[in-house]
Amino acid sequence: MEKTPLFLLFFSLHILLAPSTAIAAAASCSIGVNYGFWADNLPPPAQVAAFLKTHTTIDRIKIFDANPDVLRAFANTGISVTVTVANADVPSLAKLPAAQAWIANNILPFHPQTTIRYILVGNEVLYWKDKTVIAYTLPAMKTLHHALHLANLTDIRVSTPHALSFLLDFHNRTKTPFMVNPYPFFGFRPETLDYAVFRPNRGLYDKATRKNYTNMFDEQMDAIYIAMKKLGNYEGVEIVIAETGWPSAGDPNQPGVSLENALSYNGNVVKHVNSGKGTPLMPNRTFETYIFALFNENLKASVSERNYGLFKPDFSPVYDVGVMRSTPV
Ligand SMILES: *[C@@H]1O[C@H](CO)[C@@H](O)[C@H](O)[C@H]1NC(C)=O
Ligand SMILES: *[C@@H]1O[C@H](CO)[C@@H](O)[C@H](O)[C@H]1NC(C)=O
Ligand SMILES: *[C@@H]1O[C@H](CO)[C@@H](O)[C@H](O)[C@H]1NC(C)=O
Ligand SMILES: *[C@@H]1O[C@H](CO)[C@@H](O)[C@H](O)[C@H]1NC(C)=O
Repeated sequence: MEKTPLFLLFFSLHILLAPSTAIAAAASCSIGVNYGFWADNLPPPAQVAAFLKTHTTIDRIKIFDANPDVLRAFANTGISVTVTVANADVPSLAKLPAAQAWIANNILPFHPQTTIRYILVGNEVLYWKDKTVIAYTLPAMKTLHHALHLANLTDIRVSTPHALSFLLDFHNRTKTPFMVNPYPFFGFRPETLDYAVFRPNRGLYDKATRKNYTNMFDEQMDAIYIAMKKLGNYEGVEIVIAETGWPSAGDPNQPGVSLENALSYNGNVVKHVNSGKGTPLMPNRTFETYIFALFNENLKASVSERNYGLFKPDFSPVYDVGVMRSTPV
């Protein structure tokens, strides 16, 4: 989603029933956001860091590069930062000296004052179809993992969002999460809108799994789970939701796009992933989740892409998914 909407999640199991629509203003939700920069009117990172810390319960951010201003701004905030290696830089990082230099330049100056949670090697590399980048993604992940180990940075883990099966063995062995970008927004039809945004609906019974589904998010997550299971014994690999979201505004008459639907989807997804309910096939699991996105980004291509943000650049919430503190701290 940084440059284009993506990862149309696999299939359609289909679904059942009705969580509540009220968005509790509970201040206990732990949630991440993607902090994108395709805009020319965003506040400086230091203000953003101060705002997130004092006004929200957001405790982790993910960026699409390793912007030093952001890394500096989030020092000593208690908000972790996940950084991304640009796709074009991936091939060179397959060599150990280059990976070590990347860590020396991008991580060591900031860590541990800034908590760096993950280094993501490329973003949606399969989607971009650059054969060289794809071929070097796994080697670069292994090399960066090794370089982190050599630098004793064992608390920083390596992953790449939403890549497919050939990565599962790496994740299984290194106990790192498989990151996916489920977007029910790209999968709903008018008749399944309520099901997609967690509103009361008839739900769906899936014959293959013999489970009842009440929302499309669970259905997409279980599709991933089944795929992982079919590929081998990978059910134990943790799943992290690297992006999910719903635009709050779009072109006139664009189906399903509204403030109300964005609030319903994002608000309920925050509650759902934190609830410990899990999904029909993954009961009791919680999922580390990064909402797309922190800000509305005015330089994006279409109206709906410009309106994925939880906040406007002046920090006013577009809507509150339950991350605002009632009293700033
Ligand atoms: C990593 O830790 C080991 C053992 O504590 C130490 O010998 C080594 O010098 C450290 N390496 C770096 C690069 O800090
Ligand atoms: C699914 O929901 C239907 C309708 O509410 C119910 O009859 C059925 O027992 C449920 N099945 C499962 C496996 O929970
Ligand atoms: C994944 O790791 C688990 C536990 O380490 C192991 O039992 C399992 O066989 C591994 N799966 C594959 C396909 O290697
Ligand atoms: C999930 O939690 C419920 C309630 O605590 C428990 O009864 C059930 O056994 C758990 N299921 C799994 C798969 O852990």
